Amino acid sequence: MFFSKIVGTGGYLPEKILTNFDLEKMVDTSDAWIVERTGIRSRHIAAANETTSDLAEHAARRALDMAGLSPHDLDLIILATTTPDKLFPSTACLLQERLGVGGFPAFDVQAVCTGFLYALATADKFIQTGGAKNVLVVGAETFSRLVDWTDRNTCVLFGDGAGAVVLSASDEAGILSTHLHADGRYHEALAANGHVKQGQLNQGDGFTFMRGQEVFKFAVKALSQVVAEALEANQLTQNQIDWLVPHQANKRIIDGIAKKLQLPSERVVVTVDYHGNTSAASVPLALDVAVRDGRIQRGDTLLLEAMGGGFTWGSALLVY
Ligand code: UT7
Repeated sequence: MFFSKIVGTGGYLPEKILTNFDLEKMVDTSDAWIVERTGIRSRHIAAANETTSDLAEHAARRALDMAGLSPHDLDLIILATTTPDKLFPSTACLLQERLGVGGFPAFDVQAVCTGFLYALATADKFIQTGGAKNVLVVGAETFSRLVDWTDRNTCVLFGDGAGAVVLSASDEAGILSTHLHADGRYHEALAANGHVKQGQLNQGDGFTFMRGQEVFKFAVKALSQVVAEALEANQLTQNQIDWLVPHQANKRIIDGIAKKLQLPSERVVVTVDYHGNTSAASVPLALDVAVRDGRIQRGDTLLLEAMGGGFTWGSALLVY
């Protein structure tokens, strides 16, 4: 059995920044409300001609560079997205072509904001069982395209971006555990109902709908449980976690989980203030920020968690 070790991280945010003050001119909202209720100050928005695979390619190349690997060293690509370039082929296949490689498997996973953790857990199983040696795991989203920019309940929350990691098979400790969950009974609480109808993509009702308070309450409960589950599975206590790298949906949710873990804010990576909620890209983007600014060091124990539409939720506990 091998460990999956993170050997490189990468992130990419589109150039355009949309601030709360910009949103004040678009819907009936205020910077004060958004900051108080979510912690978000600004988010990045993809240009009209920028696709999810564009963002993914930037993040992937940065992760490969840090790893000192070329795309030819990869033997698997798993990409998490809710906003694929096309219905098919998968964005993972489009990314593979852009990286100038082929022949090995590439596929997408869809678990909305938990997508990166689903992708990471799947990649880890491939590595553990000897099915892959170097895996590119990406979370990439142009979520702004699923947002109704006249709906203040949702449009202030989301942003675009991509994050990536390269996992390599290693004898040294890496990913120690992953835990994934879903409960489809909640599929209507957070959804975008676009669908294919007799060969035509119906985009008219494809915008994101969310019963915010219900999602908020579920997120705090599910994330607290999944964090406890990860600690118990590894027989670790809270104070053995060096960094919490949470899904970046709402600062109040992040603070709630950190409080339950009794983790001081200095050991929690927060990017929601300047990224907004980038769905599947949120966790790998936050990880990349803290690796590159030197907060996360080799040997640190990290706890990653996320919750999103489905509902889906999960965790990964790893030695970086
Ligand atoms: O990534 C997947 C996971 N997603 C999440 O975890 C998101 C979970 N939910 C949340 O983060 C929060 O529920 C929101 C940030 C979405 C909303 O915050 P809230 O504190 O739950 O507000 P609320 O929905 O209870 O709304 C309170 C008031 C309402 O007005 P009334 O009915 O009290 O008059 C809303 O209409 O705030 C109003 N409101 C706004 N006001 C100004 C809602 N959106 C806005 C807005 N600006 N953008």
